[in-house]
Amino acid sequence: MKVEGKPHRTIWLDDKTGIVSMIDQNALPFEFKIHDAKTHHDTCRAIITMITRGAGAIGAAAGFAMAQAFLEGTRDGGRGTRGGGRGTGDGIYTALQLDFFVQARKEIEATRPTARNLFHATEKVFNAGMKSTDEAIKEAQRLADENVVAALKIGEYGNVLIKDGFHILTHCNAGWLGFVDYGSALSPVYVAHEQGKKLFVYADETRPRSQGARLTAWELMKEGIPHTIVPDNAGAYLMSKGMVDIVIVGADRIAANGDTANKIGTFEKAIIAREFGVPFYVAAPLSTFDLSISDGSHILIEERSEEEVHYQSGPDEEGIIRKIRVTSPGSTAFNPAFDVTPAEYVSGIITENGIVKANAESIRVAAG
Ligand code: MRU
Repeated sequence: MKVEGKPHRTIWLDDKTGIVSMIDQNALPFEFKIHDAKTHHDTCRAIITMITRGAGAIGAAAGFAMAQAFLEGTRDGGRGTRGGGRGTGDGIYTALQLDFFVQARKEIEATRPTARNLFHATEKVFNAGMKSTDEAIKEAQRLADENVVAALKIGEYGNVLIKDGFHILTHCNAGWLGFVDYGSALSPVYVAHEQGKKLFVYADETRPRSQGARLTAWELMKEGIPHTIVPDNAGAYLMSKGMVDIVIVGADRIAANGDTANKIGTFEKAIIAREFGVPFYVAAPLSTFDLSISDGSHILIEERSEEEVHYQSGPDEEGIIRKIRVTSPGSTAFNPAFDVTPAEYVSGIITENGIVKANAESIRVAAG
């Protein structure tokens, strides 16, 4: 997508320096800045603190972090042993180096446990790195490119569901910021808009991190797509009044039977959509599917700090970013980051291989 007229990915790796650069999503929508992560530890921290976030972007970040670990481990042998420079990452590793790579993989995989794309990426890049450091880098770059192509195809397939004049409700941010480019749930919206369809998007604010209010709204504004931010609890009102034609959300992990983990609050929207006969679609690349689990009960739900519920941040009247408490002092808060929508609530899943029914057989065929 374009920022100030220039095409921009959300995250990228410089092969030569080993630096992973990313749009700082915590600074948006108030400031557009790039955050540089010099080591795989830095990239892990960026994933945990959500400087980069969203299923697809987390996957790319994890792949890049794994590649950084191979660069680090072969540049100085990891943990102080001398490997003799990047060229020696030729797949013949010392026990210390191997241990370094395994520990790095564990560290990366512990950052955001629900996000399937993260595990998909670490596995692929780790296996490539077992051949050589160059292969690890190539694989991480390939995965990022694949992420872009898949997101664009999701847009093309999903576009057929969007008719001229449609009002679309989305939850969280599954736009280009949540991927390397284009996004999942918003990709069909971008394609439909490019084709000249008149659209209107309701962006759920998505407490506690407000990805909808801060990020989805910012993206849609940049693209010139009419939209408004709605409180998280407005779904039943909007749908009961016939104000929503379709709900499209992203996904963080999809079980073999189509049960889908996505940002907390998604399940509520699915229940309401079914109640009022509104189609409810999930958009996700195949790298989000976890065919090793039969259903959503096996999906580990990340619990995040209660601080995220208690505090909000934003600029004061002078433009200085302030963090303020918005809950009753002394009360605790519970902050599960995701919920699981059972497959029976899902009208279909928009993938890069087409739109599939949310059931085990269709998913198996789509996944090849
Ligand atoms: O903002 P996150 O990383 O906690 O949330 C993950 C997501 O991005 C959403 O659940 C999204 O809908 C998945 S697809 C980008």
